[in-house]
Amino acid sequence: MTLFGNTAVVGFGRMGGGIAQVIAQSGRNVTVLESDSGRVDAGFAAVREFLDAGIARGKVTEARRDEVLGRIRGTTAVEELADAELVIEAATERRDVKRAIFADVAAVVSPNSVVVTNTSALSVSDLATAIPQPQRFAGLHFFNPAQLMRVVEIVKGLATSPEVIDSLVQFVVEIGKDPVPVKDRPGFLVNRLLMPYLNDAIQELDDELATAEDIDVAIRLGLGYKLGPFELLDLIGLDVHEHATRSAYDATLDAAFAPPPLLQAMVAAGKLGNKSGGGFREAVQS
Ligand SMILES: NC(=O)c1ccc[n+]([C@@H]2O[C@H](COP(=O)([O-])OP(=O)(O)OC[C@H]3O[C@@H](n4cnc5c(N)ncnc54)[C@H](O)[C@@H]3O)[C@@H](O)[C@H]2O)c1
Repeated sequence: MTLFGNTAVVGFGRMGGGIAQVIAQSGRNVTVLESDSGRVDAGFAAVREFLDAGIARGKVTEARRDEVLGRIRGTTAVEELADAELVIEAATERRDVKRAIFADVAAVVSPNSVVVTNTSALSVSDLATAIPQPQRFAGLHFFNPAQLMRVVEIVKGLATSPEVIDSLVQFVVEIGKDPVPVKDRPGFLVNRLLMPYLNDAIQELDDELATAEDIDVAIRLGLGYKLGPFELLDLIGLDVHEHATRSAYDATLDAAFAPPPLLQAMVAAGKLGNKSGGGFREAVQS
């Protein structure tokens, strides 16, 4: 029997769509719950666009695209998640939104189902208290874009049972990803290392150690990273990084997470990175 053969995803945005696609590609059926039908349509369009780009590059056949899309079912009714053995929440990064979703989901799924959150910055142990069996709750942190990034952090909340962690490790392997079990601490593992590094790079720039372009070149060539810190910041969004690092700072009071003044100024000025047409790279060039 397939582990978590009936799976559900909540939120058909950037991450939810990518996660649903990966699960469908593994041969499982996946139901995706959204707040309105327009967003369901947008979610399907994004998955189709991703697969069509694969067809254009000769990596995906039309038959495979249709097979993958055929395994994804969109809905706006939480009752349609009743058969799900695993529910992956990938909705808007707000505690109140997520807790309301978990209460609704817990009311319809079997008490034996596993419920996980894809949150980047909220506490898994806290979110777990929104369902009656917190031992069935964990974090399953995919990276963006979920279709391409192989690592998935499996976050053990204070109440999560070892059996649930074991089943999630097996599931992540079965969908073709590499699981890394971690404790529930701000930033989990990857972002805990990443956030202070990005903050340091921003402070180096503010201290006029070098230009953003030169820091990017030095890091790419010196450390073998695919992207330099400012290329990465412009890609993920300065506001997204500021929110994440501020949350980690609030939770730990560790100065390494404190948003640097230049980052705060850039966000306040609306320079958010590629999505706003300018971030660190353009700001320094202009
Ligand atoms: N974008 C990233 O780089 C990234 C990486 C890892 C984890 N995450 C996490 O993944 C989650 C989703 O992020 P995203 O970038 O996909 O956001 P997004 O805004 O692209 O998608 C969120 C979706 O959730 C939907 N939603 C909101 N309330 C809902 C509800 N009550 N029921 C059903 N759907 C609802 C929204 O309509 C939206 O389509 C967040 O918790 C985020 O922290 C994001």
